Amino acid sequence: MLVLESSPYTEHINERLAQYEKLQSLGLIMRSGDFFPSVHYPPITMYPPFTPEELLATYTPPADGKFDIYAHVPFCRQRCLFCHYPVQLGERRSEKDQYLSAFAQEMDIYMERLGYTRLKARSILVGGGTPTYLALDQLERFLQILDRRLDRRECTQYNYDVDPVTLIGKEGNERLKMMRDYGVDRLTIGVQSLNPATLKLMNRHHGPEQALEAISDALKFGFQVNIEFIFGYLGQTLENWMAVIEQAVGLGVHEIQLYRLKFEAYGDYQGSVKYQRERHPEAVPTVQETLAMKQAAINILNAHGYRENLRRVFSKKPEYYSHYADNQCCGLLDQLGFGLTAFSSLRDRFGLNTQNFDEYYRMIAERRLPLNRGLIRSREQQIRWAIVLPLKNRRVWKSYFHQVTNYSLNEVFRLKINALKKHGLLTEDEEKIELTPLGAFFADEVAQQFHHPDHIPFPRSDYANGDLNPYHHQEIFGGNHGG
Ligand SMILES: C[S@@+](CC[C@H](N)C(=O)[O-])C[C@H]1O[C@@H](n2cnc3c(N)ncnc32)[C@H](O)[C@@H]1O
Ligand code: SF4
Repeated sequence: MLVLESSPYTEHINERLAQYEKLQSLGLIMRSGDFFPSVHYPPITMYPPFTPEELLATYTPPADGKFDIYAHVPFCRQRCLFCHYPVQLGERRSEKDQYLSAFAQEMDIYMERLGYTRLKARSILVGGGTPTYLALDQLERFLQILDRRLDRRECTQYNYDVDPVTLIGKEGNERLKMMRDYGVDRLTIGVQSLNPATLKLMNRHHGPEQALEAISDALKFGFQVNIEFIFGYLGQTLENWMAVIEQAVGLGVHEIQLYRLKFEAYGDYQGSVKYQRERHPEAVPTVQETLAMKQAAINILNAHGYRENLRRVFSKKPEYYSHYADNQCCGLLDQLGFGLTAFSSLRDRFGLNTQNFDEYYRMIAERRLPLNRGLIRSREQQIRWAIVLPLKNRRVWKSYFHQVTNYSLNEVFRLKINALKKHGLLTEDEEKIELTPLGAFFADEVAQQFHHPDHIPFPRSDYANGDLNPYHHQEIFGGNHGG
């Protein structure tokens, strides 16, 4: 096998690769080894058209009036080849001004429809794009737009997703100070790699030095710092990937987040990494090599005191985690999103904003919510949603599942749970079910066991016809929907 005998961090790799083959033959993992990140239920790419009016027509806000808030800023300096997000590139000062005005109006339209003069924020996440890729005066305007519309008195976390270059030097440090002054307390920095050749192949606009400087500056300004890496990228090897993670654990950051490269788009825009793969198949790590990278990174992170907290995020202490993600995926709490491509997840419904700039501006000028896809979940979809997200990300508390759905896990998912327990992917006690370390390693696939056949990411024939084929045991409500 491909293991480096000389490295201390290669334990469990061969074991995981053998388990991968076994789980593939059981039908858990699809035949080609490709994966689909389980982030929402139903998956975000599968929402039907939806009119803006449908989202709020029969909606009642939560009793405590609190929301997790997402704000999206879709501008970047240059296009990273792996990125599937619609963004506009370059300075574009006047377009950014136009966007900020539309964004403020979108928040106002929501507040008017919901009957609030301010929204009570439980947590805030600002993402992109690169939400710090704004001139200083525009960043301040944006922070003020949020400040005037959000009541932050009970807000437990204010996070910005950033790229390294916008944080360094005199201007970058002014941004850091400004964000601190407006209450931002956590930064998620897209480092992606610390290997110069990989960063180049990604078409990142920075080298490792700038990323290291940004991390050190962000820590100096007192932010909780989470850094993100991609593995499975073209040209990556187990050795050069391990060297990156060994460097990362010495940087003093609070959290390290790992993403397996997704070649195919999960939205409307297809990043060019897919075509890079077609042109240079020889440079693409195999699935086995990619899984080895993941296990090696886990070994290094664990050896340095980083433990998987929320799925794929490794934290120095359990209290370091994204409140926004936890509230949405584990708490199943109401969340409002503003800006291009943003989504709102409101208990039994989901609305997705347009991914098209012109449509975004047009709908807001018409004083409509800029959504075009979404769903009010049926009872069955609601039951599946209440297991998929918490199971993938942390665990499912039986009493909470019952509270949210009015069903016990036993009534709806007993066959699935038993099959996953039998194959060592799940554990269960009186209070909860959760993933074993093996289940956590293949968390997306385990979560997809609970999808309705219409929402399983790959067709039935892509999975072996074994005990864990996701189309089997669709016994919810005693009916057999799938085979
Ligand atoms: C929402 S993106 C925005 C990141 C931010 N604009 C930046 O580049 O720093 C958050 C993270 O998702 C990861 N990501 C983006 N595209 C990906 C892909 N195709 N496959 C795997 N991970 C990806 C990257 O690590 C990225 O930092
Ligand atoms: S990865 Fe981030 S910086 Fe790169 S193009 Fe996508 S959103 Fe922009």
